[in-house]
Amino acid sequence: MFRFLIVAVAFLAILPACSSSSTFEGADDEGRDLHSSARPKEVRSTHLVLDLELDFGARRLKGTVVHHLQRRYGDLLRLDVKDLDIRACRAGRSGAMREIAWHIEKGSESGGDSLIIALEPGDDRAAVDYFTTDAGSGLQWLRPEQTAGKKKPFLFSQSQAIHARTWIPCQDSPGIRVTYEAHVKTPGDLVAVMSAEKTGGNQPALEHHFHMPQAIPTYLIALAVGDLQFREMSERTGVWAEPSVVEKAAWEFADTEKMMTTVEKLYGPYRWGRYDILVLPPSFPFGGMENPRLTFATPTILAGDRSLVSLVAHELAHSWSGNLVTNATHRDFWLNEGFTVYLEQRIMEAVYGRERYAMEVTLGLRGLEEEMAEMDARDQILHVDLAGRDPDDGFTSVPYDKGAALLRRLEQVFGRDPFDAFLRRYFDHFSFRSITTATFRSFLEKNLLASNPEAAAKVDLDEWIEGSGLPDDLPREASEAFKEIDQAIMEWDAGRLQLGSTGHASWTTQEWLHFIASLGERRPVAKLSEIDRAYRLTASGNSEITAAWLKLSITSGYTPAFEKTAHFLTSQGRRKFLTPLYKALMQTPAGKKRAMEIYRRARPTYHAISVRTIDEVLGWTEAGS
Ligand code: BES
Ligand code: ZN
Repeated sequence: MFRFLIVAVAFLAILPACSSSSTFEGADDEGRDLHSSARPKEVRSTHLVLDLELDFGARRLKGTVVHHLQRRYGDLLRLDVKDLDIRACRAGRSGAMREIAWHIEKGSESGGDSLIIALEPGDDRAAVDYFTTDAGSGLQWLRPEQTAGKKKPFLFSQSQAIHARTWIPCQDSPGIRVTYEAHVKTPGDLVAVMSAEKTGGNQPALEHHFHMPQAIPTYLIALAVGDLQFREMSERTGVWAEPSVVEKAAWEFADTEKMMTTVEKLYGPYRWGRYDILVLPPSFPFGGMENPRLTFATPTILAGDRSLVSLVAHELAHSWSGNLVTNATHRDFWLNEGFTVYLEQRIMEAVYGRERYAMEVTLGLRGLEEEMAEMDARDQILHVDLAGRDPDDGFTSVPYDKGAALLRRLEQVFGRDPFDAFLRRYFDHFSFRSITTATFRSFLEKNLLASNPEAAAKVDLDEWIEGSGLPDDLPREASEAFKEIDQAIMEWDAGRLQLGSTGHASWTTQEWLHFIASLGERRPVAKLSEIDRAYRLTASGNSEITAAWLKLSITSGYTPAFEKTAHFLTSQGRRKFLTPLYKALMQTPAGKKRAMEIYRRARPTYHAISVRTIDEVLGWTEAGS
């Protein structure tokens, strides 16, 4: 109670600052980013020079960032900062810098604060000296035991959505683009990589230098440091990973070059030079992250049979949808992910065929419908209102699969060739820019709808973009293979079919996923053991199949899979896998107890982004649990 009072008083004390700055609250229809305190119309940062020194012992970065500034009016530079220890600020005109006054204006819990620097007229540079802190969510420092090699520590960043501000004081809005250069000091036996061109070799060194000549939003600034090796896959593609992982990864991702030429044919040249993939340790909280020139990927997609490479197609596709044309604010996130899922599925079709396309689309829609069934109506909207909320809350299947479905619907009514031509123009027209939903809609109107009013009348864009639920004209795909599985399950349920005679030996991962999902929410334990005896699903080494099977096992009370559940939850930290399993466990008192026990052990190894979500699922409080 006493502690609560202190918190309440502290909260009241910062209220006036919050309301006067109006930085993180209220809606803004003019495309201003509610999740950044930057005022780019006054002073805009255009280029960053980063000097970073890693301290694995203290688990912190010592940093200096120099901002090159473009000034229109006003003397205040506002930078987003969160959980940073700011030491000094300097400003000046090209080179001659002087120490300068600064202060922090309190913001919100998720958005952090605003670092306000008072410039003199004519200043076009501002520098900040700082340290990162333990509380920061943008960096994860791993102990050697958390890596594949178990001998050397590892560090990686995850800046999207608004975590860049926890390791770089910056104008942290997707609507503001910067070029950057970086100088990174590491222990001498480690390699640093960034979302940038590496100047200098691929070997361990004390200093690593980088340069990103294309303007990108700060959520795409990325750094990883560890015992990393490089393997080339083609002239412009390769993989970075720990030595024991790198061969396996190069084999798994061998189709990457093919995927690149596929997108280039459809939507224009790849504009970022190299495309490499970094395989991270298993605590990486996402499947993948489209850091330019260097996709970050979870090791859980290394299935040994290339069956999960749609993730590579997805992150690669962001080199057009997202990195080239970005959402200006977080409520426009669907422009980024919806377009990317659409491109991903087109790549999968071109490289692996129409049947695979139908399966991927169908699985995506099933996931969307299941998630939407439990979602507030306001979160089912593509152009979602995130005012006053953490932009990470906008990370649902809606911007992804509903967004992609809208594009498939447009393709369906306008025809594939005209729609592809439209998309190519869209990427060219807005390249290296960040746009809002309104800007997309007016471009669509002029460049596609106007050309064919009859087709245009078939798509209710207001319903698609501003409405909840799924429009009736949502296009579906029929998979022959899935139909056979549906049939087999029906026969099995009716007692007319023995398991093991379903032709499952040749099922692909996507067919297994459809099979498991089609078994429904729960099944009698005897049924699950019959399946497990026939198909050995508890022993599967495929992470997607494992996640689906374990969820069904938990809700069905199938105890032989419990040990595997504990192992899966403690050996990787991908939020998409953790969340449904912990949620399933929380449904019974005994499951809840197991969840708490597992989480107590696993929590210190998870990334802050996963911790935030799972804390909420479990009602976990540091003191009380
Ligand atoms: N950019 C996202 C990941 C992301 C989104 C991180 C929002 C933080 C905030 C990435 O491209 C992505 O969508 N990853 C998916 C995989 C994909 C195949 C759907 C993921 O990690 O689940
Ligand atoms: Zn994505």
